Amino acid sequence: MVSKITREGTDGIMTEAFNLILSYRKNLEMKLDPMRYEHSLSVSYSCMSLAMCHGCDLEKAELAGLLHDCGKRYSDDIILKKCKKHGILFSPEEEEAPAVLHANYGAWLAKHKYGVSDPEILSAILYHTTGKPEMTLLEKIVYIADYIEPRRNKADNLPSIRALAYKDLDETMYRILKGTLEYLDRKSGKIDPITLKAFEYYQELHRKQALKQVMSSDEEESDA
Ligand SMILES: [Fe+2]
Ligand SMILES: [Fe+2]
Repeated sequence: MVSKITREGTDGIMTEAFNLILSYRKNLEMKLDPMRYEHSLSVSYSCMSLAMCHGCDLEKAELAGLLHDCGKRYSDDIILKKCKKHGILFSPEEEEAPAVLHANYGAWLAKHKYGVSDPEILSAILYHTTGKPEMTLLEKIVYIADYIEPRRNKADNLPSIRALAYKDLDETMYRILKGTLEYLDRKSGKIDPITLKAFEYYQELHRKQALKQVMSSDEEESDA
């Protein structure tokens, strides 16, 4: 743990919340491998950036982003064992595709080891790999920041997804989930049922939005 900073910064940023963030960073730097730690910082900053754009609580966004992968400190096998040991709930599908289990373990760690009690932050950590229908603003921000953070470079569609994320979070969810399902289908990977439900939910929003646009353009033409 870092010692508490008591001197005010030039912009008065040395708040209790910031001291907590500094102590979490120090801890994660020791617990995670260097690239995972860099990714966690990058997701945290991306969460704050999206939070500023979409009117979400900045402190919650920073904390949820920083801790989202705190469970990814062990191999999948060990994480499965830890989940069983601590009575952490997971589905049979998650046991079959244990790469997602670090989210369940991470939400447990955030609550029991890092002392996070805010259910919204814990839920954002829990659903950051699978998504779910009707996500809260913070849940969508963490899920999307994890995909678009500046150090990501694998997905072909990143430039357009990044631009979209600052305009429409629901449409961004649809695009990311669609790409994820297509990828898993190509690789014959296991699809978590909750990810499928999340896709169906955001696909429906996408269809409604598209229909609204067609109808409003029809109205404009008939007015002309
Ligand atoms: Fe993750
Ligand atoms: Fe991540």
